[in-house]
Amino acid sequence: MSQHIVLLAGDGIGPEIIAEAEKVLAQVNTQFALNLSWHHELLGGAAIDAHGVPLPDVTLDAARQADAILLGAVGGPKWDAIERSIRPERGLLRIRAELNLFANLRPALLYPQLAAASSLKPEIVSGLDLLIVRELTGGIYFGQPRGIRTLENGERQGFNTDIYSESEIRRIAHVAFQLAQKRNKRLLSVDKANVLEVTELWKQVVTEVAAEYPDVSLSHMYVDNAAMQLVRAPKQFDVIVTGNLFGDILSDQAAMLTGSIGMLPSASLDQQQKGMYEPCHGSAPDIAGQGIANPLATILSVAMMLRYSLQAPQAAEAIEAAVGRVLDQGLRTADIFSEGTTRVGTQAMGDAVVASLLTI
Ligand code: NAI
Ligand code: MG
Repeated sequence: MSQHIVLLAGDGIGPEIIAEAEKVLAQVNTQFALNLSWHHELLGGAAIDAHGVPLPDVTLDAARQADAILLGAVGGPKWDAIERSIRPERGLLRIRAELNLFANLRPALLYPQLAAASSLKPEIVSGLDLLIVRELTGGIYFGQPRGIRTLENGERQGFNTDIYSESEIRRIAHVAFQLAQKRNKRLLSVDKANVLEVTELWKQVVTEVAAEYPDVSLSHMYVDNAAMQLVRAPKQFDVIVTGNLFGDILSDQAAMLTGSIGMLPSASLDQQQKGMYEPCHGSAPDIAGQGIANPLATILSVAMMLRYSLQAPQAAEAIEAAVGRVLDQGLRTADIFSEGTTRVGTQAMGDAVVASLLTI
């Protein structure tokens, strides 16, 4: 059966890293006879420039029909002055919401070859392999009412609403428990239940769902402590489940423990495991167009896509192994470069992964 992928290169380094991911996709498609097809659509600033909106209907329709979506990144200074409601990031938030991509999986895996790139001591991070499951379509990023208003006394007031319903918490909890079952059967739920009622409910519902997964041990931690523990002793964690806001921050923090945000893939899944796959980083306008961006996070996102949405686990493993071999060869983009390794650009890194796939 043929499966179709929509590629959304986006802005900044997006097109550069997606081009390398596309090479890798083409290679595994041939090598593993996957019968995949794909085409490009516009999202973000690129779509604003062409159509005046960050998420054109044609992109949304194509994304709805696709079996999986691969995204580069959106946004950049060029569009920062635009009215908030049609900014590039709004296109991304909307496509996540429209496709009901409520489960954001963000692994933080330290490649042993990159232990020196971490900001933490090797003994604290070596062997780190944790998975953050972030709720992606609810919470304060979407809650109404929101806005900036002017009070009667003339003072301006900004406000957002952090809101989660029981069903939203329940479905993300199920995803997290099922992932924990496949890993080390430990799940940590992060909240701020001592202060925020919305997370008090979060804690209650996750605890209720735990009854259905007696083989998984559930623990709870306040988000401030979790942030501290992540840099003190990150290897105590395995699977972490949390809401949209805490998940955004903790997953970026966890990303940095692995040395570079340029190495980390992510998946955003709906109830049927249809998903959108993207690197954890943004469009990196500071290095866009220079051919130096690290394409590995996007290439590893292709691997996650093959595993979770396209039922091609062997191809996924082959890509991950090829990335490992390329690192073994000492090839490094600037963001992960260290003394004694070989600095390469975006294209050379993509080519090296393809060449490594050919050796198996
Ligand atoms: P960023 O992740 O784009 O960049 C942060 C730093 O990491 C920069 O120094 C950048 O050069 C570096 N970096 C990021 N990806 C890299 C890669 N693959 N290789 C080497 N270095 C890399 O985050 P920032 O600067 O906060 O945001 C820039 C733009 O990206 C903004 O417009 C922001 O809204 C957007 N953004 C988009 C996201 C998305 O599309 N999912 C996520 C985060 C930010
Ligand atoms: Mg973020």
